[in-house]
Amino acid sequence: MIIHKEDIDKIFDAARIEEVVADYVTLKKRGVNLIGLCPFHDEKTPSFYVSPAKGIYKCFGCGKGGNPVNFVMEKEQMSYPEALRHLARKYNIEIVEAEETPEQKQSNNDRESLFIVSSFAQKHFSENLYNSDEGKSIGLGYFKERGFREDIVQKFQLGYSINKRTEFTDAALAGGYKFEYLVKSGLTIDFNKEEEKTTEEPTTINHPAEKKYVDRFSGRVMFPVHNIGGRVIAFGGRTLRTDKKVAKYINSPEMEIYHKSDVLYGIYFAKKEIIHQDNCFLVEGYTDVISMHQSGIENVVASSGTSLTVGQIKLIRRFSNNITILYDGDNAGIKASFRGIDLILEEGMNVKVLLFPDGEDPDSYSKRVSSEELKTFIKENSKSFVQFKTKILTTEAGNDPIKRTEVINEIADTLSILSAIQREPFVKICSQELNIDEQTLINLVNKKHRTRFEKRKIEPNPTTETPSIETNEDINVDDLRDLINPCEHQERDIIRLLINYGTNIMQVDSDDADEDGKPIQIDISVAGLIIHELQHDNIEFENILYKAIYDEYVVQLEKENVPDYTFFTNHENIEICKLTVDLVSSPYTLSNWEQKSIFITKEEDILKSALHKAVYALKSRRIEMMITDIQKQLKENPPEEETMTLIQTQHSLLEAKKTFNLLLGRIVVK
Ligand code: CTP
Ligand code: MN
Repeated sequence: MIIHKEDIDKIFDAARIEEVVADYVTLKKRGVNLIGLCPFHDEKTPSFYVSPAKGIYKCFGCGKGGNPVNFVMEKEQMSYPEALRHLARKYNIEIVEAEETPEQKQSNNDRESLFIVSSFAQKHFSENLYNSDEGKSIGLGYFKERGFREDIVQKFQLGYSINKRTEFTDAALAGGYKFEYLVKSGLTIDFNKEEEKTTEEPTTINHPAEKKYVDRFSGRVMFPVHNIGGRVIAFGGRTLRTDKKVAKYINSPEMEIYHKSDVLYGIYFAKKEIIHQDNCFLVEGYTDVISMHQSGIENVVASSGTSLTVGQIKLIRRFSNNITILYDGDNAGIKASFRGIDLILEEGMNVKVLLFPDGEDPDSYSKRVSSEELKTFIKENSKSFVQFKTKILTTEAGNDPIKRTEVINEIADTLSILSAIQREPFVKICSQELNIDEQTLINLVNKKHRTRFEKRKIEPNPTTETPSIETNEDINVDDLRDLINPCEHQERDIIRLLINYGTNIMQVDSDDADEDGKPIQIDISVAGLIIHELQHDNIEFENILYKAIYDEYVVQLEKENVPDYTFFTNHENIEICKLTVDLVSSPYTLSNWEQKSIFITKEEDILKSALHKAVYALKSRRIEMMITDIQKQLKENPPEEETMTLIQTQHSLLEAKKTFNLLLGRIVVK
């Protein structure tokens, strides 16, 4: 369902940041701002600021910041439209959601029916576990034997499916649930459906008798799978038999509410603690998750036997950027999992790994040691993934020179996924471990990094109306910023001035003169002045976020409108939003500047100087780059004619640079 733009505007107009935050945080007045303990990380002294005037919050401890909608998204783990609806309810704003098409209605009904059937099944299986003789003795008996505490069995809503062919399906049909949805949810297998006949008929059952359907999970203990909001969407059923012919687990098939690759077992029970610990443990199976909870470690999810998908990684990334993979001690698949981990790194996440002792998995180990011992073990044995991988591969390669080269390439590949900052601490360690020169490794990694980036260059989306770039989860903005933008600093400074002072009006000399030859003074906005200056020399921004913001100003100015910062702090592109929140809450303001240049007193003059300084600094930096480029060309001994032109250009560039530096110098010492 779509929320109309007018309603979104209404919500943004109504939502007061201090009121929205106050639902979660006790705020105290401090000057024009309010402060409190940050709800996103543990702290004892407040570093969380709310600016009612600017409509934003910002934590100077953990860096989180944004507008009221961002706050709700972050705090409640809601999507953008969910957060808007939440605020609409809070402020009694009626939102007219776009009418659903018949197809959408049908699909929503289907989804809802599947949720309802799954919820019924979960209750039925739990009921069996606690209230039927078979369930109590066999199901509950099994969980007890494994050492699962009763409160944990309840928390995870574990259950038991009676060992009769159609016990569940018959109960569901008697309860009025539609056969169609029982089959769609996979709880019931319909023998009339050709494809089902051949596949997953449980082998515990003898041949079909009179009925044309059968329960998928009969005779198994049941692990319901919950979505992020806590609704049951699927099941895993574990057999109690030990014979190897029976599949240990049977799982629900793919369906509208259950796409395996986007689901993590345990995410609902883990999300709060993942945020709190700012780390997520990844284990292999249902029982690992449950046992870790029992030991008091709740920030844990399972990929359920398959290698991690991008969808699952994104799910984790909603809560934390850090992930620790726990490997079984006897895990033969460690090497095979390395590729998958590169995917996690590509999402910009930090990965650690932990290897359990031989023959142990998180489930068995946590049963054997105390909760404290488990926590200590994890803390002391977690290693960074890069180091872990390097160690394993080099050990394996031994002294074989060909294998060693392969390993160097492999590790350089992984390092090249990381941003320069993430990579930094590993380069030395890896070069030692790989026994190669540090600079050689750096060069190799840089080369790979460039190729990698070229492959995924991003085009700003030209089709959207107001937002200049689409919110695209595939873009890792940190990586981009990192990517050698030689003008990063200068560009940021200009955007900072634009956002903070863009609407200020100032008087400047125009190009026209009056009768006495004196330049005519005109009023111009700071944004207008900056754009005028940059367009004069055809300067564009390299950083795509800065460019998006700048371009927005250009578009708006053409409409004779100067947007103020709320236009950007409330922007629906979360990256723009976060950047501008950083910029408007930055402690670096003009007043610092004032102290340095004591001769300047009038506020407008300070601003004017800051503006010119920023613009000249960018232009000067650009000129430097052009000069470097020319010098590079000259080194390659081009034909004489070309050399002449290059030298001439270089000369005029150097002159221009001198002028700018002079101007810059004059401003600073004025
Ligand atoms: N799995 C599966 N189908 C199988 C085997 C495993 O779907 N036939 C998935 C399950 O999600 C399981 C996970 O892979 O939880 C890990 O498998 P395994 O380690 O064999 O199972 P455990 O969870 O450790 O179960 P148990 O402790 O009961 O052996
Ligand atoms: Mn296991």
